[in-house]
Amino acid sequence: MLKRVGCFLCVIFAVLPAPPGFGGPAQPPPTATAAPRAQASGEEKPDEGIPVTSDLVKRKCGTCHRADEKGRLTRISYRRTTPEGWEQTIKRMITLNNLPLEPAEARDVLRYLADHHGLAPEEAKPAAFEVERRLIEYTYAGDKDTEQLCTTCHSMGRVIWQRRTKEEWTLLLEMHRAIYPGTDTVFRRTVGQRRQSAPQAGGPPPDNRHPMDKAIEHLSSAFPLTSAEWAAWSATMRPPQLQGRWALAGYQPGRGPVFGQVVVTSQGDPNSGEFTTETTFTYARGGQTVTRRGRGLVYTGFQWRGRSTGEGTSFPIAGVSTDWREVLFVDRDWRHAEGRWFTGAYNELGLDVRLHRVGADPVVLGTAESMIKTGASRQELHLFGANLPSNASPADVNFGPGVTVDRIVSATPTQMVVSVSVAPDASLGRRSVMIAGATGEASVAVYNTIDFIKVRPQSGLARLGGGAAYQKQFQQFEAIAYAKGPDGKADTKDDVELGLVDALWTIEEFAATFKDDDKDFVGEIDAETGLFTPNVDGPNPKRKNNANNYGDVWVVAAYPRNLGRDRASDARPVKGRAHLLVTVPSYIMFDQPEVAR
Ligand code: HEC
Ligand code: HEC
Repeated sequence: MLKRVGCFLCVIFAVLPAPPGFGGPAQPPPTATAAPRAQASGEEKPDEGIPVTSDLVKRKCGTCHRADEKGRLTRISYRRTTPEGWEQTIKRMITLNNLPLEPAEARDVLRYLADHHGLAPEEAKPAAFEVERRLIEYTYAGDKDTEQLCTTCHSMGRVIWQRRTKEEWTLLLEMHRAIYPGTDTVFRRTVGQRRQSAPQAGGPPPDNRHPMDKAIEHLSSAFPLTSAEWAAWSATMRPPQLQGRWALAGYQPGRGPVFGQVVVTSQGDPNSGEFTTETTFTYARGGQTVTRRGRGLVYTGFQWRGRSTGEGTSFPIAGVSTDWREVLFVDRDWRHAEGRWFTGAYNELGLDVRLHRVGADPVVLGTAESMIKTGASRQELHLFGANLPSNASPADVNFGPGVTVDRIVSATPTQMVVSVSVAPDASLGRRSVMIAGATGEASVAVYNTIDFIKVRPQSGLARLGGGAAYQKQFQQFEAIAYAKGPDGKADTKDDVELGLVDALWTIEEFAATFKDDDKDFVGEIDAETGLFTPNVDGPNPKRKNNANNYGDVWVVAAYPRNLGRDRASDARPVKGRAHLLVTVPSYIMFDQPEVAR
């Protein structure tokens, strides 16, 4: 299921008044102070729980979440999660339970809990797509039934970024039943489906547990409070020292690679985990340069959450703010970090980012051109990096056998232009780029023909919007060139990805419903950039049944662009296509923007 696809039930929740008893005057609620369920039922319970040492948290939360003799607060001590996970809970405490909290206090509480009741890097990584706001198709490998149950309403990302005791998983689902009407309907529906599966003769007895109990069982063993990873990480966690110069290699779908640098400066105390940033980068294709300034805060020793603002249009959409959010995972060695920068307003617009700390050695980040052709000379390649040698000779730059560097056209510490010839019989495929003494992951593909192109993503999703209340959700497509590889067949394992190419973009009818002419209503694709802009939301009197402008279409890329345009020519362009679903707005928004301050 697509992440963050809204559900109809959630729409109902959003408009329903809170059930009686919630949002009333603050009073210690039974669930917050109730005797632990496992004890009540006489089960053996390990003596888990993280003592709270922050006076602020004790003062603000301890009124309802009582401390025990070991300084453990009910609920709070039995759960760990990401900064976003904590923020969500704190917000509910404020809105639903009338917790009085000033913004500055909320920040400090959040910081304390994310640091001390947080996740280890190995635990946080699988949920990175959620914090990085990637609109991806995520399949949970753990347990199908649990996934089905939980993703009826929200992303599985918000589940897998939690660690809890069994009792806490139980209370969470009880909270769902109490607060979010409809939960029981979902749970019951799943039970109904289960009952229909008749026992198999001679097979194991059917699993007739209630789906909620099954989910609790699964979640408590898959995402327990106590873990070896957290024990190890929390014992040695320290504020990361990130100040200095970092080389930046990024990728923006549709526009390709960017290269540049980020200068990170400590803000105040070098142990505060707070930084300011100055970033410049260049789009390798096209050469546009962007400068940005920002701030960042590192939670739990590795989770960078930042904001930045700057000049230069990265996304060619009128009215899109240039404010970005930054989510990065800092490696244990404090020498690499990776994640995603995305526009605060539109999660779908963003860049993948990787940072390498710049020391004294040269680093090769990548190339502007992703492929070089066999049997051709004077092919210019733009190499990007840091500390690149300014006096390099052709012999210092190496692409492996069959590729000769004829000349260094120009060289600066961050960019080198070389002219190469590729032998007619040079072996095809990707090869790494070496510059004397430098490290890096740059590579370039040697090819002789572009056999086919693929449109990425293969199935896109856009949302109507821009009417009274809801914003549009855009979909950027890109055309990626491929060679068939040694087996001479397309769509096999040995295909060689050659990289992003400029295609001519059109949309065509996807014949799902006869004569619905979706392509005339869903919106428009930019012929050159591949950016799809959906139509406005709301009923359209020009459409049959006064329908909304939703629908599904093919998105078609033709390469090269001029052949796509020239219908008279005998030569045919190579084409690729993808499915695009244009649907109604997302009526609910899950968002925790404040973690990035
Ligand atoms: C006025 C009473 C009150 C205060 C003060 C309060 N809470 Fe709660 N808390 C509740 C209630 C009621 C619940 C159970 C219902 C729910 O989960 O919303 C709860 C549940 C929780 C849970 C479990 C939520 C889950 O996802 O299962 C956590 C964690 C929590 N609170 C954290 C905090 C923190 C942190 C603070 C202080 C910043 C705080 N609470 C302050 C009343 C309070
Ligand atoms: C009927 C709809 C529905 C179903 C089914 C559902 N959830 Fe939720 N869940 C919600 C809503 C609504 C929220 C609150 C969203 C918000 O506050 O932004 C929520 C919030 C959460 C949170 C965050 C709670 C917090 O404040 O810490 C977790 C964790 C969670 N759900 C886990 C689960 C799990 C696990 C399942 C499956 C066993 C599940 N949910 C199934 C509707 C649902």
